[in-house]
Amino acid sequence: MKKTVEEHAARFSEKAAEYDDSKSDEYHACASLVIDYADPDADDVVLDLGAGTGAIALAVAEDAERVLARDISEGMMDEGRRKADERGLANVEFAYGEFREPEVDSDRRIDIVTSNFALHHLADDEKREAIRVMAATGARRIVLGDVAFFEDPDPGAPFYGPEVDDPATVGTLVEAFTAEGFAVTAVERVHDQVAVIVAERGAALADR
Ligand SMILES: C[S@@+](CC[C@H](N)C(=O)[O-])C[C@H]1O[C@@H](n2cnc3c(N)ncnc32)[C@H](O)[C@@H]1O
Repeated sequence: MKKTVEEHAARFSEKAAEYDDSKSDEYHACASLVIDYADPDADDVVLDLGAGTGAIALAVAEDAERVLARDISEGMMDEGRRKADERGLANVEFAYGEFREPEVDSDRRIDIVTSNFALHHLADDEKREAIRVMAATGARRIVLGDVAFFEDPDPGAPFYGPEVDDPATVGTLVEAFTAEGFAVTAVERVHDQVAVIVAERGAALADR
């Protein structure tokens, strides 16, 4: 049976201290692409969902005005807060937020939404809802890196465990972005089961 939000939070908090040292080459390649595609301007506000220990949030904070990092695991966010302090990054705010309820004030301007290796914990209908919420922030760009299938799922492959993960096909995610009026401007195949998808609003494309 799929885990609840609370069970996911407890599971990640338990392994938060070791999390950063446990990642694969594909994870690092995916995170690096998400950071590159996010590419915030100095006055941009970035919302990073499923932020964990801050791999994306802390990297983009170097260039952005502010980063709102949201996650359900306090243990993971404590690691992120510690690293932000160490790096002297005062423009990153870690706080509780769930994909479908990110706990961001409705009058808060959001320019870019990022998420890396987190959305696959949700079922496909929940992912669509999460993408609706991302779009409703008004962001001009959404950069999603995640476990997602380019081919038929291989249950023996390394990037997911059916008991805790529920990856979508890349096509399902692309359709969810286009259904919200976004143009998908890049799809990067990091691995048969790891994708980076970049979605942009029409107006943002016209401004280029
Ligand atoms: C594999 S970690 C990825 C963390 C970070 N984005 C990174 O790239 O290292 C997945 C994160 O998603 C968070 N998460 C899982 N389900 C979530 C949900 N429904 N809403 C928000 N965050 C969630 C977990 O707490 C965990 O920190």
